[in-house]
Amino acid sequence: MKTEIAAPRTHLYEQVAEEVAQLIGQRILRAGDRVPSVRKLMAQKGVSRSTALQAFQLLEGRGLVEARPQSGYYVKPQREHLLPEPEHSHEPDTYDQIELEGTAAKVAEVIVSFRHHPEYAPFGVATPSPQILPNRALNRVLAATARQAGDAGNNYDFPPGHVELRRQIALRAPDAGYQLAMDEIVTTFGCMESLNLALRATCHPGDCVAIESPTYYGLLQALESLGLSAIEIPTHPQNGVDLLALEATLAKRKVAACLFATSYNNPLGSCMPEENRRALVQDILAPRGIPLIEDEIYADLYHGLARPKSCRAFDTEGLVLVCSSFSKCLAPGYRVGWIVPGRFGQRVQLLKFMNTLATATHPQAAIADFMKSGAFDHHMRSLRKRMREQVARVSEAVAEYFPAGTRVTRPAGGFVLWLELPGNANALRLHQRALAEGISIAPGPIFSAGQRYQNFIRLSCGYPWTTRLEHAMMTLGRLAQA
Ligand SMILES: Cc1ncc(COP(=O)(O)O)c(C=O)c1O
Repeated sequence: MKTEIAAPRTHLYEQVAEEVAQLIGQRILRAGDRVPSVRKLMAQKGVSRSTALQAFQLLEGRGLVEARPQSGYYVKPQREHLLPEPEHSHEPDTYDQIELEGTAAKVAEVIVSFRHHPEYAPFGVATPSPQILPNRALNRVLAATARQAGDAGNNYDFPPGHVELRRQIALRAPDAGYQLAMDEIVTTFGCMESLNLALRATCHPGDCVAIESPTYYGLLQALESLGLSAIEIPTHPQNGVDLLALEATLAKRKVAACLFATSYNNPLGSCMPEENRRALVQDILAPRGIPLIEDEIYADLYHGLARPKSCRAFDTEGLVLVCSSFSKCLAPGYRVGWIVPGRFGQRVQLLKFMNTLATATHPQAAIADFMKSGAFDHHMRSLRKRMREQVARVSEAVAEYFPAGTRVTRPAGGFVLWLELPGNANALRLHQRALAEGISIAPGPIFSAGQRYQNFIRLSCGYPWTTRLEHAMMTLGRLAQA
């Protein structure tokens, strides 16, 4: 006798989920895209709210979408688009003290080559696109604050700097895990001035500074201009500085300060776990009296639910100097930043005074007002979401167009990706060939004092995705094959 096997019955919610899954499979919906809302799905498919919700739960369970609080469901990067990550930056025992002579000029040569070509497909410079910054709103605030201030606005705002701006910065410090008084903050001309002041307050010419490897090229320029040398500490793409390697270095060499971007290092996007931050500050640096200059410029651009704590949250000795600015999130051209210099407060204020006398008054006032009105926090919420989506898009294009064997980071914040190209790829040559095709990238060697990372590149994801960028990624992938 023949047994009848009944075809498994599919529920309505499974059918709805399948239709959405097909859109993802056909790449009509792509990583980072918002999936139609529950309400839209109800109207589109003529289903009840609970069916639409069950469909989303099923898609979530299958790893196709993820829920984001108060925002809806988004397509997750698919496994086949998750390339392996680059490994540890270099062997712990290969580091040496590196004199930086000539580094600044080499870096400038590379950066200037695309800075002056705004028409290039912009994967080179790590700035947010002007399209995703609230420029018009901020400029209106600038005009209004300048009008209100009258003649008083055209005066020096001597260190420590604009009172309301410092109040607004202090108000947000608990997000980073610590309390701050206004007079513990000095405003500056961007994070670069903060870092320079921090280095000058803690080091003397000829001293050696421990840095991450790879690290932001501007830091290498700052070290060279101050006559400092560097020791590159191996840095992990997820966890940041290798603390064992750091301890081994400190046992052998005299280090005047450490300069780390603990929350989303540029270019790695690494984020030091909280326990490592505690150990770094309390177990490694405090007993040796070594200051930590913490570059926090990307810390507010987290992709998850909360901002990582600053190392300052674990500091009881005043040895952590926090440096940051509004350049990556609001207004690079306003040139407004700040430093929280810990026990080096007086020295930093004096250096600031000697260096630039005062920070420009109007940009500080405008940003302070923008923050006070609530517009800044609102903007940050949407900027974080955008950056996360843009990073997902570029990662996906790397998986699609770059040669087999390419590795790419999976940053949990910020908006840059660090790629390791297979074989004996030459990043500087790729950079030249990309420029000839109207595409800018940042070649790996400029992120190292020791000229490491010959086969690495950094891609900035600061611009909204367009077909032009997709074509540029296709071209880059083809050039990287060669
Ligand atoms: C890690 C890091 N620190 C500092 C800076 C410089 O910041 P600012 O423009 O505020 O001087 C940058 C800019 O790219 C950066 O990536």
